[in-house]
Amino acid sequence: MELRSKQNTAFLPTADLHIHLLCGVDDGAKDEETMRAMVDAAYADGTRVICATPHYHPGFFGENHDKIRESFQLLRSYVKGNYPDLHLYLGNELRYGPSAPDWLKRKVCNTMNRTRYVLVDFTEHESADTIVQANLQLLNAGYLPILAHAERYENLHRDFREVLRLQDLGVTIQIDADSLFGAWSRNAKKRSRALLEQGIAQLVASDAHNLSSRPPQLAKYRAFVAKEYGESYAKRLFWDTPLAILRDQDMDL
Ligand SMILES: [Fe+2]
Repeated sequence: MELRSKQNTAFLPTADLHIHLLCGVDDGAKDEETMRAMVDAAYADGTRVICATPHYHPGFFGENHDKIRESFQLLRSYVKGNYPDLHLYLGNELRYGPSAPDWLKRKVCNTMNRTRYVLVDFTEHESADTIVQANLQLLNAGYLPILAHAERYENLHRDFREVLRLQDLGVTIQIDADSLFGAWSRNAKKRSRALLEQGIAQLVASDAHNLSSRPPQLAKYRAFVAKEYGESYAKRLFWDTPLAILRDQDMDL
């Protein structure tokens, strides 16, 4: 894998490891034209690494494994022809269910670039106990969960006790960039900023679904994080950690 940082003062690239841009597979890009336009927008914004993470949520989006492969091939040829310096990978956003380890083992659900890392999400009203137990189950099965949009779960304690316990055990904590400016709720905004303030957040991603309400934008959030919490933390969140995940490296806390 050739992923080199080309950082200088003029250009600060970002990596987006949570984005719904594959077309016709979930509630992300609705057609091929939108998928291409989302890549155009992400590239123009400074994103140079993308791991596509369509929902894997049987019973809701159906068994979409084959459609995901097809859509990814279309995306790959578009990127190859237009953005040779954009690195593209495939993953999934796994909606947790008790069969999750089996879906991963059978490879109907993708880990991030075939690494041990798996992006996992829950309904926002899920109990803290279920979130903890689910992550433990995945860890015990040999996977390294990335807890998607950790700021949005209303039953996790405000002092982050469950989040910190999971992080200690090897779970990576991801937050959605637009939560920082209040796209979800006042609480999610508060929690996303607190997770940064306390240095708990390890990864910021767009969770983009379209070009309007949830666009693939990271640069303005990266600039905000650098200003408020320091440039070296911003670089870790938007570049170093995502690349470490795609290389299957262990996380330094
Ligand atoms: Fe998502």
